[in-house]
Amino acid sequence: MKAAVFHKPGTIQVDQVEDPRIQEGGDVILRVTATAICGSDLHIFSGAVPQTNPMVMGHEFMGIVEEVGPAVKNLKKGDRVVVPFPIACGKCFFCSHGASPHCENSNYEHYGPDGGLTGQKGGALFGYTDLYGGYSGGQAEYVRVPYADISPRVVPENLTDEQALFLTDIFPTGWSAIDWAQLKGGETVAIFGSGPVGLMAQKAAWLKGAGRVIAIDPLDYRLEKAREVNKVETLNPREVDVVEALRSMTGGRGADVCVDAVGFEPERNFLDKVKATINFEKGSMKVIEMCLRAVRRGGTVSIVGVYGTPYDNFPVHRMFDKAITIHQGQAPVLNYVDELIGLVKEDKVVLDDIITHTLPLAEASKGYELFDKKEDDCVKVVLKP
Ligand SMILES: NC(=O)c1ccc[n+]([C@@H]2O[C@H](COP(=O)([O-])OP(=O)(O)OC[C@H]3O[C@@H](n4cnc5c(N)ncnc54)[C@H](O)[C@@H]3O)[C@@H](O)[C@H]2O)c1
Ligand SMILES: [Zn+2]
Ligand SMILES: [Zn+2]
Repeated sequence: MKAAVFHKPGTIQVDQVEDPRIQEGGDVILRVTATAICGSDLHIFSGAVPQTNPMVMGHEFMGIVEEVGPAVKNLKKGDRVVVPFPIACGKCFFCSHGASPHCENSNYEHYGPDGGLTGQKGGALFGYTDLYGGYSGGQAEYVRVPYADISPRVVPENLTDEQALFLTDIFPTGWSAIDWAQLKGGETVAIFGSGPVGLMAQKAAWLKGAGRVIAIDPLDYRLEKAREVNKVETLNPREVDVVEALRSMTGGRGADVCVDAVGFEPERNFLDKVKATINFEKGSMKVIEMCLRAVRRGGTVSIVGVYGTPYDNFPVHRMFDKAITIHQGQAPVLNYVDELIGLVKEDKVVLDDIITHTLPLAEASKGYELFDKKEDDCVKVVLKP
């Protein structure tokens, strides 16, 4: 089959690889009908999240069940499903406590309590490095889905692939960021990053009763997209001091909730880079720092942008003095996916309005280039095998 294979930083190409096959009784093989490139894939593409062996990329995918393992009870050949990105056994301590990204069984070799830099990680993710389980991803014609009774969800017939695809990751991820903040209604929510995850968090903020939603991004075309599809207010950090602007928009207090939907590879100036080099840091935590400054006392900061390395000078003093609540991590997609399918099915939210590029899988390399370099006003790339 054909698949988008990571070879080395900057090189993801479509190769002919072996077809996946059933390995465990609980597996299914999916024929992929739609798959997307995620900002998380860009951390591998840039080399910041390390991977040495060639690997089939992709954790946002859906498709038709082609082959069913003997132990699978809930799916049959021909079912059309979306697949949440964390690989979860459904039975271990964390799976049974609503924390499926921390599944104790799916990441057999590299799982551990430590969460270290290279040694111990949480549960496995599709197509997301050997450290996260070494499973082939879904930017391919076919994909093996383990524990198939647990995560895949049958898609309502009235939904197109494009309407359903983002239930695998970015909509539940944006939703988690807002759900963690437990809005009561009327809050001001500032969302750093207006890429696919930020745009989904904006949608979630409105659905959960925010009074004001403010998008922050250095790319004007992404802010324009946010205004167009989500009717939010916008701030560009290249033009204004975002922290000061947010304070002056909120009576001097700061936003009730700040969301980091950027992660450890933000836009950086020369000084930021020098600081990182001196501190032996990879990437930057400047967006977390901005969130901690821009949030009001007693407010919540939700971090869904990915962080993979330690940082010195962590502003713990500000967290303490302001009594800030912080939530973060891989999104527990399974906790939300059924509710969110309902919202899409009932037309309470539109998800496919962020897609700017639909390409054949054969053009995956071009998709990565466009999305990584933010060319051609690219916001979200969908690949069709
Ligand atoms: N926690 C999870 O489960 C989960 C799931 C999906 C994605 N992610 C992570 O979420 C992050 C965003 O993903 P995405 O798909 O939207 O990627 P993306 O790279 O398209 O979006 C990031 C956006 O942040 C903007 N940005 C850069 N510097 C900024 C700054 N200083 N202030 C404000 N905005 C800034 C960029 O211009 C870009 O629009 C990534 O780190 C990704 O790995 C996490
Ligand atoms: Zn993703
Ligand atoms: Zn588990």
